[in-house]
Amino acid sequence: MDTRILFVCLGNICRSPTAEGIFRKVVTDARMQDRIFIDSAGTGGWHIGKSPDARAVSAAKARGYDLSSLRARQVAAADFEEFDFILAMDHANLSDLQSMKPDHYQGHLGLFLDFAEHSRHREVPDPYYGGAAGFDLVLDLIEDASAGLLRQLQQRHRA
Ligand code: 4NP
Repeated sequence: MDTRILFVCLGNICRSPTAEGIFRKVVTDARMQDRIFIDSAGTGGWHIGKSPDARAVSAAKARGYDLSSLRARQVAAADFEEFDFILAMDHANLSDLQSMKPDHYQGHLGLFLDFAEHSRHREVPDPYYGGAAGFDLVLDLIEDASAGLLRQLQQRHRA
């Protein structure tokens, strides 16, 4: 069984592409890349077609993640037909997604950091208007939640 996961933030140029890149590496390292499909999108449409923010690309590269080939897209109604997990970076993203969600959606719509095991943060803070430390915090939080999400998916695939 394939599991399809969509990470969502506001612009799809900082947090959700970082989540896509990190989670893809975590899944590949666990040799589960043929069973888990990963994508990301933004609730807003300002950056459609753009590469991730250069600050996000370089912060990720310093930890061994390659975001350079990713391109921004906006969340679409069809995503609720295709993804088993739709994981929001903050409460504003989640509330936008909840208002798009069709009644028949059977998947998991929630905050990505609900899967984090070592942090009390509930949201991945938007780093766009801040400094470099914001991008490092984004990486820390996403690495934590990615490990937790992988563990849950491994249990699901074993079941
Ligand atoms: P992201 O960051 O949601 O993590 O991709 C942002 C990127 C762009 C904007 C806001 C947040 N913006 O307002 O253009």
